[in-house]
Amino acid sequence: MEFNNLHSLKGYFDTRRSGRPREMVEPAPNDNELREMCAAAMRTPDHGKLSPWRFIIVPSHGRDRFKQILSDAFIANNPDARDGQISAAINMADHAPSLVILVHSLKPHASIPAWEQMLSTGAVGMNLLHAVHIRGYVGSWITGWAAYDEAVRVAFCKDEERIAGFFFLGSPGEKLQERPRPDVDDLISYWPE
Ligand SMILES: Cc1cc2nc3c(=O)[nH]c(=O)nc-3n(C[C@H](O)[C@H](O)[C@H](O)COP(=O)(O)O)c2cc1C
Repeated sequence: MEFNNLHSLKGYFDTRRSGRPREMVEPAPNDNELREMCAAAMRTPDHGKLSPWRFIIVPSHGRDRFKQILSDAFIANNPDARDGQISAAINMADHAPSLVILVHSLKPHASIPAWEQMLSTGAVGMNLLHAVHIRGYVGSWITGWAAYDEAVRVAFCKDEERIAGFFFLGSPGEKLQERPRPDVDDLISYWPE
């Protein structure tokens, strides 16, 4: 990258924010771009090169099956749920034109703790959001009930893997709202004072 591009890159980096999945519209990253973004996201610190993460791209033709998995799981947990409650619980399957699932894939290791592997997976998720933003799209990292449901987990994960998040991607259908940000001075200290 040219050095003189870094200034505008900094502006991009400092202003990233999430969008609301239900408001995301086309244009959205195509398959090539999704793969490129996942590759960029994988450029993440990873103690021991264990790759304790992987991605699942859910193309548009997979959305109906995804919705069915959510529906079956929700009804199994809430047998008395009304239709409105079920559709509210599963409508995430229709959100945003592109969907990527980040899976945390712990690799048991004698000296590299699970904690560090979780940190690496979190960093991959954040990197993915930056990779999305830098290409002019918007993203949102959502877990919701589905990421913690066992039936949903086994639909996407092997062994002890778990869902780190659903990444909804597209373009903002509405003007993005800024959310309150922490006061930097509250969260930075110097040691020794
Ligand atoms: C691991 C993780 C899971 C999240 N799950 C949800 C969720 O289920 N529902 C939700 O409304 N926001 C969830 N969020 C927060 C959204 O990503 C939220 O839109 C984000 O914090 C906005 O901040 P940003 O504009 O800096 O990206 C989650 C965030 C993280 C890191």
